Amino acid sequence: MSLPPPPPLSPKQEQLLELTNQLPLLLTEDELANPLVASEKLRAKNFSPNLIASALSQWSLRQRAIKKLGPIAQDWFFTNDGLEQATQTVVARHHAQRFAEAGFSQVADLGCALGTESQFLAREGLSVFAVELDPLTASWAAFNLREHSQVQVLQGLAEDFLASPPASLQAVFADPARRLGGKRLMNPEDWSPPLSTALSWAADYPAGIKVAPGIDYKFLPPTSLTEFVSVGQNVVEACIWTKDLAPIPGRVAQVFVEDQSFTFSDPLSEGANGPVRPAPCGDLGRFILEPNGALVRSGLLAALADEFDLRLLDPQIAFLTTDILPPAGIPARERLFAAAQVFEVSTSVPLHRKQVAKAVSEAEFSSLEVYARGVELPATTVRKWVKFVPSGQPGVLFAARLATQRLGILAKKVSQ
Ligand SMILES: C[S@@+](CC[C@H](N)C(=O)[O-])C[C@H]1O[C@@H](n2cnc3c(N)ncnc32)[C@H](O)[C@@H]1O
Repeated sequence: MSLPPPPPLSPKQEQLLELTNQLPLLLTEDELANPLVASEKLRAKNFSPNLIASALSQWSLRQRAIKKLGPIAQDWFFTNDGLEQATQTVVARHHAQRFAEAGFSQVADLGCALGTESQFLAREGLSVFAVELDPLTASWAAFNLREHSQVQVLQGLAEDFLASPPASLQAVFADPARRLGGKRLMNPEDWSPPLSTALSWAADYPAGIKVAPGIDYKFLPPTSLTEFVSVGQNVVEACIWTKDLAPIPGRVAQVFVEDQSFTFSDPLSEGANGPVRPAPCGDLGRFILEPNGALVRSGLLAALADEFDLRLLDPQIAFLTTDILPPAGIPARERLFAAAQVFEVSTSVPLHRKQVAKAVSEAEFSSLEVYARGVELPATTVRKWVKFVPSGQPGVLFAARLATQRLGILAKKVSQ
């Protein structure tokens, strides 16, 4: 079934856009920062209370969107759900580049929401069928993508679109909705569309399917390439790539740090749903490393350990250790620092309240961050054990169970 374009913007939507765009001309920055004052001033100019409330809320969504998506958000229209679900700019660009590098020129963005992914696909020179189920969201997507003539926004079910797809369609991207009423849906079959439906599309087309980063490996097709993605320290998604979009099957970690990106994979991998290879374990060395969540989620700690001669402190706990780091100024060091936060150990004591408090007070820290792993105590409890007069450098306390020992390891962050 061929799907229709979304309805054009209604007069109310047009009014809302116009007032939102005018706000910085009608109000000062201080007034805009204070919704009560802003609202009063706009009422005095005879705008209706409903229109004022919608425009102010749109204004505040735009400010949040600019932080998440950058300047493209400046003249886009947002909904709260659409903004929360929008893929971060750096990741959407990466997705689009994968389609372009695989040589595709005509793709579908299935569940395009407000159009973030479609926009980057278009910027990479691809033509896009952007399909969105929700009529209001689809109409805003058409507005947001208005300058990209090679994007066709269609409203309806992706399932219907694919029931009689355009002959020119070469590949698909799907980003199932994973929340309902503000709550995360843990079962992939509760997503919209369900993961099994999205995976069935991947049988017909090379596909990228965005999924939760905590996805159980049993859902990953063995021949897929599944990327676990972090932006800085935050794991933001996993994405299952298939067929020509998955040149090498397996799990990879993709870490974006400022304007650089780093890829980690395991040459000994046994496919995307293969087991996690165990990393070697050993005693606490001079440095302790807290691996980036993308490497943890992708099960790549053994590959990281091989690459940098690291060892795990405990088979169950994702802290690594080493005695030597690559020297400053070489690419290997940048790569290691993208893969993990690195700390130099000052001392370690048994994880007992008095011993930890004494060690912290002697260590001269300006602040203290606590990481707890494998111990029944939450980090907040351990944090309450210690009091100190701030001086010196920021410090970190690792509260961890290592084999049979429970240790408090004090350390200082090493800068790259
Ligand atoms: C997670 S959001 C997509 C976010 C988008 N990739 C972005 O970066 O802005 C999922 C979208 O899919 C839409 N959707 C859910 N089920 C759908 C279906 N069966 N067909 C088409 N769209 C669907 C939802 O309305 C929602 O807007």
